Amino acid sequence: MKSENEYVKWSDTYSMGIKIVDDQHKGLLEFVNDLFNHSTGNEKEERAYFKKVIDQAVQYIKVHFETEEKLMIATKFPGYAEHKKAHARFTLAVVDSANDFESGKKRVLAKFATFLKDWILTHIAIMDVQYAAYIKSIAASKTDSAANMEVH
Ligand SMILES: [Fe+2]
Ligand SMILES: [Fe+2]
Repeated sequence: MKSENEYVKWSDTYSMGIKIVDDQHKGLLEFVNDLFNHSTGNEKEERAYFKKVIDQAVQYIKVHFETEEKLMIATKFPGYAEHKKAHARFTLAVVDSANDFESGKKRVLAKFATFLKDWILTHIAIMDVQYAAYIKSIAASKTDSAANMEVH
């Protein structure tokens, strides 16, 4: 049971124009595709794969959120608190969902992959674009070079 139609392909419409963030988003989407790749429908195989990768994936997600939150703090983004809450809620949801899969409540790896994919793409499109636009606008409005940090 391969789910080729579920694969997500990177598109420039996802680009924040901030290299480190774009690279991390690409990494997250690669992980989602890797999950779909291992969605064989064979429960034993899926569980073995999941066990191998989940801790590292959660760690990767946390590092990504920290990167964004540091950027928001450094630039005094007004939506920081709300954005940080969304990150925290998602981190909990991933851990919950991972636990459900591990404990057998969720039997299909593709479902977990779809959950991650939907959240990541929606979050990029709705929330990440907001701080990216804000950072670009303040970088453009300041002439001193300090304002251009991390923005390319
Ligand atoms: Fe974010
Ligand atoms: Fe993000």
